[in-house]
Amino acid sequence: MATRNSKTLLNNQHVKLPGADLYRGDCLAVLPGLTGPFGAVVTDPPYSSGGQSKGDRARSTGDKYLNSGATKYPDFLGDTKDQRAYLHWSALWMGLCFERLADGGLMIVFSDWRQLPVTTDAMQAAGVTWRGIAVWDKTGGARPYKGGFRSQAEYIIWGSKGALKGERYSPGVFRVNPLAGGKLHQVGKPLPLMEELVAACGPRILDPFMGSATTGLAALGQGKTFTGIEVSQHYFQVALSRLKEGLP
Ligand SMILES: C[S@@+](CC[C@H](N)C(=O)[O-])C[C@H]1O[C@@H](n2cnc3c(N)ncnc32)[C@H](O)[C@@H]1O
Repeated sequence: MATRNSKTLLNNQHVKLPGADLYRGDCLAVLPGLTGPFGAVVTDPPYSSGGQSKGDRARSTGDKYLNSGATKYPDFLGDTKDQRAYLHWSALWMGLCFERLADGGLMIVFSDWRQLPVTTDAMQAAGVTWRGIAVWDKTGGARPYKGGFRSQAEYIIWGSKGALKGERYSPGVFRVNPLAGGKLHQVGKPLPLMEELVAACGPRILDPFMGSATTGLAALGQGKTFTGIEVSQHYFQVALSRLKEGLP
């Protein structure tokens, strides 16, 4: 299992690929060194969720987010904050992204139902004009809930830096199956979902929590440029190979 230690944070690394700049490090350390403006921030941060109590949240990410708990993908980092810490931390990284966003640029951030209120608070605290919530409908294959309602949705909180400048009309609900086999990250997002989001954005995309670089692949596929940051050495390498080889 991957653990967070001072080495993973100190040894920042930068790799340049055609159309892409990949950084390995903590986004709070890397973002101040990046030069904007970016057309959009499209990102899927650790939710620090998956439980009602501190003990629940401290469990491994595989345990929290996967039905079986068993996974061939390593756990990922940064997922154990309580809600108050999550709010402060989110406002910090969102603030750094906001400074580097173009006027009218979009900020698009994934969340689940537990962290939805603090994530919208953080976005506004960072200076973003919060404009709405779109829905990822994970379809009937999502986790059932005996006596309750299927865990079928994740949320896409979005806002902009000042007045919107885009011309495109995008949907507010995305019905896309979650990844089954073949995915490269424990909680990787499906490429078709990220393609829809990236299509709404300007030409230079920033993802401070790139994981396996699904956002990056979508961006490059649409002729946009991509800047991604990932703290885990394992997932940084996955992202690098994926963008080099164009793996879906
Ligand atoms: C939910 S995953 C992103 C998955 C991605 N959307 C994909 O499709 O592969 C969040 C990622 O953020 C990384 N992460 C956590 N804390 C971070 C930090 N402070 N700076 C940069 N990356 C971080 C985790 O290691 C994890 O890979």
